[in-house]
Amino acid sequence: MLVTLEGLDGSGKTTVWEALKERYMGTFTREPTTSWYGDAVRRSLASDDADPLAELFLYTADHADHLQSVIKPALADDALVVSDRYVDSRYAYQAATLNGVIDDPLDYVRSVHEPFTRLPDLTLYLDVDPETAVERSAEANKFEQLEHLRAVREHYERVIAADSERFARIDATADPAAVLDAAVTAIENAAEGSLQRRS
Ligand code: TYD
Repeated sequence: MLVTLEGLDGSGKTTVWEALKERYMGTFTREPTTSWYGDAVRRSLASDDADPLAELFLYTADHADHLQSVIKPALADDALVVSDRYVDSRYAYQAATLNGVIDDPLDYVRSVHEPFTRLPDLTLYLDVDPETAVERSAEANKFEQLEHLRAVREHYERVIAADSERFARIDATADPAAVLDAAVTAIENAAEGSLQRRS
């Protein structure tokens, strides 16, 4: 079963991913990856004048490699594969950066992925308002960050509305123990008892 964690920067999804890793046997991975494709993504992220379309293809190249070298082999071996960010991060973040650059960016980003990707069985969406997300994250340019995160969140909402069965929405403003409980409940319901706990 492929489970992904999604949400705005500062939503706390990496903390949940780390707690799940302590709790369950399985493969725990993330995007951007640690491969050289992931390094290229991080170079682009650090560059203020990165072209948004070029950036989409860097993230997508990293995803294609992640799929072939990590996700597919892990799904063949493990009952549980958990990725911190996955396709929906492109659908939300790159659709936001491509707003005004191309028509209907969300549709475009989806059409680039659909021929080759493997959609998650369950996506935990850690829902937080952009104001709280900005307060929690360490970014310097808060105004730009807030505007961007508002656009990203709108795109997440469109993706969820179109594919609501795949998503479990978790209130990420709740206390960390409640957030983790909600994540565990969603995973256990979807797995129907097939998971191995760490002892
Ligand atoms: P990440 O390392 O997950 O940051 P965080 O742990 O703070 O959530 O991701 C780095 C940034 O890259 C983050 O701002 C989200 C963005 N991102 C995209 O824009 N598109 C993508 O496909 C992915 C995977 C991340």
